[in-house]
Order: sequence, then structure tokens, then C-alpha cells
Amino acid sequence: MAFVSQNHIVLFFCLLLFRLSAADQDAVKAGYWYRGSGSVSDIDSSLFTHLFCAFAGLNPDTNEVTISDDNEDAFSTFTRTLQCSNPSITTLLSIGGGETDPHSFVSMAKNPSSREIFINSSINIARFYGFHGLDLAWESPTTADEMSYFGLLLDEWRTAVDAESNESGESPLILTAAVHYSPDIGSVTFPVDSIRRSLDWINVVAFDYYTPSWAPFTGAHALLYDLPNRVSTSSGIRAWIDSGLAPDTLVLGLPYYGYAWKLKKSGNHGVGARANGPAVTKDGEMTYRKIKEFIKKKRAKSIYNSTIVANYCYSGTTWIGYDDVQAIKTKVFYAKDQGLLGYFVWHVGGDKNWVLSQKASSTWDSLE
Ligand SMILES: *[C@@H]1O[C@H](CO)[C@@H](O)[C@H](O)[C@H]1NC(C)=O
Ligand SMILES: *[C@@H]1O[C@H](CO)[C@@H](O)[C@H](O)[C@H]1NC(C)=O
Ligand SMILES: *[C@@H]1O[C@H](CO)[C@@H](O)[C@H](O)[C@H]1NC(C)=O
Repeated sequence: MAFVSQNHIVLFFCLLLFRLSAADQDAVKAGYWYRGSGSVSDIDSSLFTHLFCAFAGLNPDTNEVTISDDNEDAFSTFTRTLQCSNPSITTLLSIGGGETDPHSFVSMAKNPSSREIFINSSINIARFYGFHGLDLAWESPTTADEMSYFGLLLDEWRTAVDAESNESGESPLILTAAVHYSPDIGSVTFPVDSIRRSLDWINVVAFDYYTPSWAPFTGAHALLYDLPNRVSTSSGIRAWIDSGLAPDTLVLGLPYYGYAWKLKKSGNHGVGARANGPAVTKDGEMTYRKIKEFIKKKRAKSIYNSTIVANYCYSGTTWIGYDDVQAIKTKVFYAKDQGLLGYFVWHVGGDKNWVLSQKASSTWDSLE
């Protein structure tokens, strides 16, 4: 009974909102949703062009893409629910993420017949659930062999997706991958030629550079600029472009979360101050929403450092590095200025009243 009445409400909103103007189709303003992000119907999808549904898994025994029982309901209605509020939204099913053992990807990708099973099952699942594309979140190939399997997988995936489109008469599924902030990981490099040939774009995971579980000092975990020999988003993007990818095949990651450290001394609270592991949560990770609540409740002092493009706040011995509207705005400006295809956020549920998403979207639109 609830199901029927819900459909009526959904239909009503579909009709109401159908006339909203379509977003700029050339740009990618994307967000990832996962189960911890809250209800799909609460997403303000007018602020996005693409939404990624995260994560499908990989069955290590069969090499097929799987959707867990917990995710089944939300995944099966994901596209329909979002299209009600934004008929031009594009949805992609993301496979992998932190919950999938990277070894499962390696053992699947090293073998031609298991790659074929994986690829076929991914296409079948995407079509069955109504997604417009597929996203590979294999975190991360780490050896030269693994990088070459990764490249083979992408090339065969593209061939299969094009063939399926020929056969079904539907537009080909979009193919993307979420990748390391830089094409180089240690001594190995991503297969840039395969990426260029076979993917529509890559989502550059431009965050998590410093976390309290290992860094004995406070860190801006997603800083845009740093000294040339240090990790930063701009150095990663530059390296991807130098490796041979066109800027308009890169989509810049924006974190809607930060990390809390426990300061050694409350009086020493800059970026790089000595610290003693995570604060507030087990690993220190906090959504933007929770950070804003913390600032309000503790009357924490918050600072924007425009040199590195990062926000942080502190109260007592708690120090939190994160991105607020200033950092988000400057990064979107940077992305547009560099000719990138757009940006994606991880994850939509971290926003507070859509403040960051509105700033990102309006900043992108304000630049030509
Ligand atoms: C994968 O799909 C293709 C095209 O539909 C088909 O020819 C092939 O037999 C399938 N392979 C497997 C292992 O299911
Ligand atoms: C799609 O069909 C066209 C025309 O039938 C053919 O030339 C092309 O090779 C096909 N592409 C794929 C990927 O199967
Ligand atoms: C911003 O961060 C840089 C690098 O950590 C530092 O050198 C500089 O003093 C900071 N500026 C401000 C205003 O805090």
C-alpha cells in the first residue's frame, strides 16, 4: 500500500519538475552516493549532471559484478528516483571501492575468460537496473602487471560496450574509472593509452593525502597547491595532463569530509603541527556536515589558507582539516580554468543543506 501511494507522489513531482531547464550538458557536475549518504530521494539532483551509485561488488569466485542484498532496493530504483527530480540526470553504477578486495580485481583482470565474464555481467546489470554507465573503482593496481591487466580490461570493456550498443540500439554505456590523484603510483604508471582510447573520462581521487592514522602532524588532506616536490591536487592533475590525457577527460574530486587530529599542544595548531593520531571519530574522518556542527557547538576557530587552498578549524586539542565553501569554490575555478571536464564530490551525504554543491555548481556556471 505504501508503495502505491509513494508512486503517486513521485509521479506528481515528475510532472511538476519536468519543465526545469536542463543543466549544461558539456560539463560533468557529479556526485557519488552510497548507502551511508542517506536516502536517494533526498539528493538535490538539480545541482548535478551525473550521479554515481556506489558500490557494486565483485564476486571473487565467479568474477561477476554483484549487488548486495542491503543495496538491492536503493540500486534498483536509483535512476528512476533521480529522474523524477531531474529528467536529464545521468546515472552510473560504480564497481569496487574500499569494500572490495583489490586482489579480486587482480585475479579477475589477469585472465581473459574472467575479464569477459566480468564485462558481460557489468553490462547486463547496468542495463537491467537502468544505469547509463559503469565506473570502475579498483583501488588500486600497484604493479606493472596489474597496470597492464587494467589496460586490457578497459580496452575489452569498450569493445563490448560498443558491440552491445550496436546490437541493442541503445546509446553506448558511459565508461569511467576512479583513479589515484596522479598517474604514477610508486614506480608504476597507469596505462594512459588504454584510458584515452577506452574511457569517457577519469574521476581523479584528489583527497586523502594525509590521514591521522599515519601522519604524526596535522595535514590538509586535499590541498590544491604545495611545494613542487610534495603531494597536491594541482601536481597530480598536471602529471595526468603531462602523461598525455586531454584536460577535458579529467574530472576533479572534491571531498565533502575532512579528518580530525589530536594536537600534541593546543597552542600549536597550524597545518603541519605535531599531532597524536585521530580525534572525534575512530579514524578521524568526519563529514562536512559533522564538522560544521562541531564548529558551532565548540565555537571552534576556523581558518581558510588560500595559499594551499584548504580550510581547517581547531578547538582545544582537536584539529580538523577539510574543504569549506572557499576551498570548493577555488578548486572549481581551478578545474574550469585548466579546461577540465568537471568535478565530482565524495559523497553527496556529507554536504550541509547543499551549501557546497550549490557553490560548486554556481561557480562552474559563472565562468566561461
Ligand atoms: C559475453 O557476451 C557476448 C556478447 O553478448 C557473448 O558473445 C559471449 O558469449 C558472452 N560471454 C560470456 C562468458 O558470457
Ligand atoms: C557496429 O555495427 C556497424 C554496422 O553494422 C559495424 O560496422 C561496426 O563494426 C559495429 N561495431 C561493433 C563494435 O560491433
Ligand atoms: C598557509 O599554509 C602554508 C603552508 O603550510 C604556510 O606556509 C602559510 O603560513 C599558511 N598561511 C596562513 C595565512 O596560515
